[in-house]
Amino acid sequence: MTAAETEKKLAAQAAVEYVRDGMIIGLGTGSTAAYAVLKIGERVKQGLSVTATSSSLATEQLARSVNIPLVDFCGVSRLDLTIDGADEIDPQLRAVKGGGGALFREKILAAASETMICIADSSKLAERLGKVKVPVEVLPFAAAFVEKSLADLCSRVVIRQLASGARFVTDQGNCIFDMFFDRPYDPQRLAAALKSIPGVIEHGLFLTEIDLLIVAQGEKVSIRKRPDAS
Ligand code: A5P
Repeated sequence: MTAAETEKKLAAQAAVEYVRDGMIIGLGTGSTAAYAVLKIGERVKQGLSVTATSSSLATEQLARSVNIPLVDFCGVSRLDLTIDGADEIDPQLRAVKGGGGALFREKILAAASETMICIADSSKLAERLGKVKVPVEVLPFAAAFVEKSLADLCSRVVIRQLASGARFVTDQGNCIFDMFFDRPYDPQRLAAALKSIPGVIEHGLFLTEIDLLIVAQGEKVSIRKRPDAS
């Protein structure tokens, strides 16, 4: 296992310690969140009693494979806890997510959660957001119009494609535009600008949702609370 994978696994395992009997939990998407799903599966096997809901079809499949009891989120109004990864996170626990294309459902689960824990390897830490692409989920009907609007806000905008060259399609049937930046941006201003574009369904900036960051650096796991969280 690479050093980064070990860090992801350590962070995920530390987060799963927050899961308690009777909780309804949100499951994130991506390679770091997958370690948490597997660990929750182990604990379920040992007798933990939880119900979970998933932020993507991929995670749903993984959760089923380890027998985590699942519920459809459409009938759920609040979650006790969500555990999810990030692509980049700053000291205020503002993050960019959506590298795996699940940002829309991830944001809904995060908003519904009493506590949102972000788990990360040390490569995800950033002093300022700006190094990684910001994904934006877009209604295909508005693709060309939104692409033009996004281009005014970043250095380069690219529609996400699969290795085959086919357009990436989200679990909701939408497309993803990835915004690239040459320099750090103002996350609040960018989020507000993105929200004002008709056809943008959701963006990958998570500026207030994350309560706790669990990050592994080598063997050391540290826990950081959002500075303004109660
Ligand atoms: C999925 O859409 C994302 O938000 C992931 O949580 C994020 O991309 C981190 O993924 P990894 O854990 O695979 O790095």
